[in-house]
Amino acid sequence: MQIIEIQTATGKHSKIFTGEDFTDFQNHLPAQNVVIIIDENIFDLYRDFFKKFQCIKIQATENNKTLKTVENIILKLIELQADRSTFIVGVGGGITCDIAGFTASVYMRGLPFGFISTSLLSQTDASIGGKNGVNCCSLKNMIGTFNQPEFVICDINMLDTLPEKEFICGMSEIIKIALIKDAVMFDFIEIKTAMILKRDKKILQELITKSIRHKVEIVGCDEFDKGERRILNFGHTLAHAIEPNDGSPHGFAVSIGIMFAAKISQHFGFISTVDVMRIKNLLSAFGLPVRTDIDDEILFKTLISDKKRNDGGINFILLNKIGEATEKNIEIDVFKTLISTFK
Ligand SMILES: NC(=O)c1ccc[n+]([C@@H]2O[C@H](COP(=O)([O-])OP(=O)(O)OC[C@H]3O[C@@H](n4cnc5c(N)ncnc54)[C@H](O)[C@@H]3O)[C@@H](O)[C@H]2O)c1
Ligand SMILES: [Zn+2]
Repeated sequence: MQIIEIQTATGKHSKIFTGEDFTDFQNHLPAQNVVIIIDENIFDLYRDFFKKFQCIKIQATENNKTLKTVENIILKLIELQADRSTFIVGVGGGITCDIAGFTASVYMRGLPFGFISTSLLSQTDASIGGKNGVNCCSLKNMIGTFNQPEFVICDINMLDTLPEKEFICGMSEIIKIALIKDAVMFDFIEIKTAMILKRDKKILQELITKSIRHKVEIVGCDEFDKGERRILNFGHTLAHAIEPNDGSPHGFAVSIGIMFAAKISQHFGFISTVDVMRIKNLLSAFGLPVRTDIDDEILFKTLISDKKRNDGGINFILLNKIGEATEKNIEIDVFKTLISTFK
């Protein structure tokens, strides 16, 4: 087991355990009284273990990541007489962790919480860093909090039950972190693609731990998303416009967004054609999509209602080179043309 710690400027201390058995989660509970908010799919898969706890089951879909779901959970928490002494544990992928973290942050002005993170995408990204949010009017993560969980447990064995499509979605966030932070990691993923697809545990453990360490480093410098943390949005500007329009899973939309951002990085002279090809080949090797058929106008309209618009332009994350990101403000009109050309 490895422990990666996040110490934030606000004094919050969060521990991420990789290689930990999820059934040991009670060792990390600071309180007796626990309520588990759990993805119903995970509950069904691991019923024998979770049935002995007070569980609130949720349907982990993007359409369900709403204030209505939060309200329903809150009604159940009231029924269970959850109070300030209650500890909330979110069990599931990114959707469940987002919903559970947000609900715990607002119920009675905030209860302590932790996560058992069950998907590759949430173990490497979504459950790490203290952003918890829900969607609103089909806009992604419009309502949310910055609040660190007390702990995150990443049990690699839980990935055995993860459907293939969800597994490769997780790979898209892992490739993202390599592209913005770690050229050696990018090479490693290229070399080990076949082993990764076979879910080789040693290699996966290494990738998960590396991804977490990079994210923790970024979050440690910028807990509230004012500067450095924005590089994590690499690939996400377009992704957030794709998801509500064709219902693509997050990882698929991010893959298309990565490809789009890579082509724009080349367009502005930052990276080479060879780099763009390497990125395309790697995403494709994992079966990830690299382009979208959504109408340009529809994409653009959704994109400009998203929250990363600034100074009359779009703050867009590009690659300086593989392993290093940079931010550029792109004028709205220019951006519109880029969408038509490179989406
Ligand atoms: N808060 C953040 O910083 C942050 C960062 C990245 C992504 N996100 C959010 O994360 C969400 C995507 O996360 P996700 O891909 O984990 O989605 P998810 O929670 O929907 O999980 C994907 C699917 O896999 C299933 N699943 C999860 N773990 C499983 C397991 N061990 N075995 C079998 N099935 C399993 C789930 O039931 C679900 O059907 C998006 O809503 C995105 O906005 C948040
Ligand atoms: Zn993401």
